[in-house]
Amino acid sequence: MKRRKFIQRASLSGVGIITGSTALACKGEAGTSVSTTSTTVATTPMKPVVIATWNVEQAVTKAWEIIDRGGTAIDAIEAGCRVEEANAEGQSVGIGGLPDRDGNVTLDACIMNSEGEYGAVVYLQNFKHPISVARKVMEETPHVLLAGAGAEKFALSQGFRKENLLTEASEKAWKEWKIKSEYKPIINIENHDTIGMLAIDSEGNISGGCTTSGLAYKMAGRVGDSPIIGSGLFVDNEVGAATATGLGEEVLKTVGSFLIVELMRGGMSPQLACEEAVRRIVSKNTNYRDFQVGYIAVNKKGETGSYCIHPGFSVTVNRKAGRRIITAESHTKP
Ligand code: GLY
Repeated sequence: MKRRKFIQRASLSGVGIITGSTALACKGEAGTSVSTTSTTVATTPMKPVVIATWNVEQAVTKAWEIIDRGGTAIDAIEAGCRVEEANAEGQSVGIGGLPDRDGNVTLDACIMNSEGEYGAVVYLQNFKHPISVARKVMEETPHVLLAGAGAEKFALSQGFRKENLLTEASEKAWKEWKIKSEYKPIINIENHDTIGMLAIDSEGNISGGCTTSGLAYKMAGRVGDSPIIGSGLFVDNEVGAATATGLGEEVLKTVGSFLIVELMRGGMSPQLACEEAVRRIVSKNTNYRDFQVGYIAVNKKGETGSYCIHPGFSVTVNRKAGRRIITAESHTKP
């Protein structure tokens, strides 16, 4: 963004101007926030930082509280993701997630720490915190990914409690869907899709997590990008991290999060790297108007980026200066 335009937008929004490296933050972070906890943003360090897909203020607040009191990025990620997983109103993550076409809520999640370790669960049923089970896979098993019944057996062995994840509202929505049984991915589902979260702690270490109930009314057994390393999430503590939301099949086919981290390794900013990852998807799909994909990224310096195919993807960022909800820029225009 041209500097003059940026200053105009910043002053119009009533938000103080961050000097120095501001232009390297998410496009929009400087002046288009729709809410902020801080109205006087002074020169601010770029890290520590927490960034998450969608408007998930409570989740990011939780993660930030841990970072702010000197906790680790991995603890912040797990705690932040758990907030959304426990929110029964959200129909795309954890309890209350919309089921597959057979009426089963199946959850996918992964987590990655600054050591490059990774843990994931796919097709997990009856446990509302897949992010925590994924962390246990990472820390307590010789494996990185557990699926279905095996993942559930492992969760039970780790003391997680089974519960019914299909809420009344989600069951009702599924029954209504069954009347026509039309499978059509929804763009920006209730403005709250897969939650991907990235954090840099005060030691400068990076971790990330990604948690989802996947696409509503998917085929039984379908797994998306979210739990797959390099697609829904990738962290390299030397370089940065990226995570994705939206139609997982397209993220998987382009290994989006790994792509973004590798582009950053080559010197690209997080913003341009997110834009390039979206461009790859758009250039390979003539039907890109029918689906959404959004990315967020952070580099080692704490600079952030976000980009999506269609308008409507929001991003939550928390730094020392405060918390902001940003509208990500998009390939198609409003
Ligand atoms: N991005 C989540 C999914 O496609 O399952």
